[in-house]
Amino acid sequence: MSKTIRWGILGCGKIARKFASDLALVKNARLVAVGARSAESAKTFSQEFNSSKAYGSYQQLAADEDVDVIYVATPHAFHYEHVMLCLKRKKAVLCEKAFAINARQAKEMIAFARSQKVFLMEAFWTRFLPHYQKVKELIAQNKIGAIKYIHAEFGFKPSAPISPRIYDLALGGGSLLDIGVYPIFFALDLLGSPNQISATVSFTPSGADEQCAIQLTYANGATAQLFSSFQSNLANGADVVGDLGRMRLTHRFHGPTTQLEFYSTTQESKQVIEFEVAKGFGYEYEAQHVTDCLLDGLTESPTRKLEDTLLLMETLDRIREKIGLRYGADKS
Ligand SMILES: NC(=O)c1ccc[n+]([C@@H]2O[C@H](COP(=O)([O-])OP(=O)(O)OC[C@H]3O[C@@H](n4cnc5c(N)ncnc54)[C@H](OP(=O)(O)O)[C@@H]3O)[C@@H](O)[C@H]2O)c1
Repeated sequence: MSKTIRWGILGCGKIARKFASDLALVKNARLVAVGARSAESAKTFSQEFNSSKAYGSYQQLAADEDVDVIYVATPHAFHYEHVMLCLKRKKAVLCEKAFAINARQAKEMIAFARSQKVFLMEAFWTRFLPHYQKVKELIAQNKIGAIKYIHAEFGFKPSAPISPRIYDLALGGGSLLDIGVYPIFFALDLLGSPNQISATVSFTPSGADEQCAIQLTYANGATAQLFSSFQSNLANGADVVGDLGRMRLTHRFHGPTTQLEFYSTTQESKQVIEFEVAKGFGYEYEAQHVTDCLLDGLTESPTRKLEDTLLLMETLDRIREKIGLRYGADKS
């Protein structure tokens, strides 16, 4: 593999534009090719972000010998198909969340990547953001003690023009897979797999979940209360509370932020930890991590492990079972 990691982008939509812009901030990385369903869309994107090649099909992108890693940025319902396409051509893959529609698909994707000895990672950008790294560090230093309670919420009211993938079940629509993954990630990453899950939901006329309230209960007595919504603009904050202190992740806890609040219960003090404003949209951190992993010859990330991804997908399945939410891919 060359010293500069050569990136391709599959699917030239909304998030792909932010990612491509952030890729310019990443050391030892270069966008070399993009693939879209139409040559016109690929060409427009390629001109905007300076890639030398633009393909009017995903197959052509996956076959390009000059591409090392492909960022898959299509709606969730296509992640399985598009990731498998790239892995079959021995391309490393960074795949957007939700990683797949269900755990069965995720297991197959992971098993195939491992059999091919090709790098695969879920694009869980939050895991790589500086404020979240600090959360992990403070927990590892036992600053808040044993975690007893987690709260996390993510909700917004989609405004026009609304992307079809938001409500269309055929595209994996609904709040749970789109934004519910963030509060759930937060609880799983800090507390692990829950003993018990309870959940309530309200559905849209299309059958997608519009709002989902989830409670995870743990063997050690810890509880996580999580919420996703397409009904209203929420504060989108998160709290993690231990017996020695607590942390509050303020507005947009899942994205780059300049502040983290730390409260010590023992000293009855509040400390605000400051972070520099991200240079990009915040996707540069995960892209740098993948680039570094590939330069080191790794086939899995030691930070966002494939087991973590599988646990998230299995938990989503358990929640969907509780609320009676099924996608077409669940039947096959
Ligand atoms: N990490 C984050 O912060 C973040 C934020 C937003 C979204 N996402 C995730 O990124 C993925 C894409 O989201 P997005 O908002 O970028 O979606 P989008 O703009 O609606 O669609 C992305 C692209 O997917 C391609 N596509 C392929 N088949 C399609 C089909 N049948 N219908 C619609 N599009 C199709 C299209 O690209 P071409 O026509 O160019 O091929 C489209 O532009 C989702 O899984 C989403 O959850 C992540």
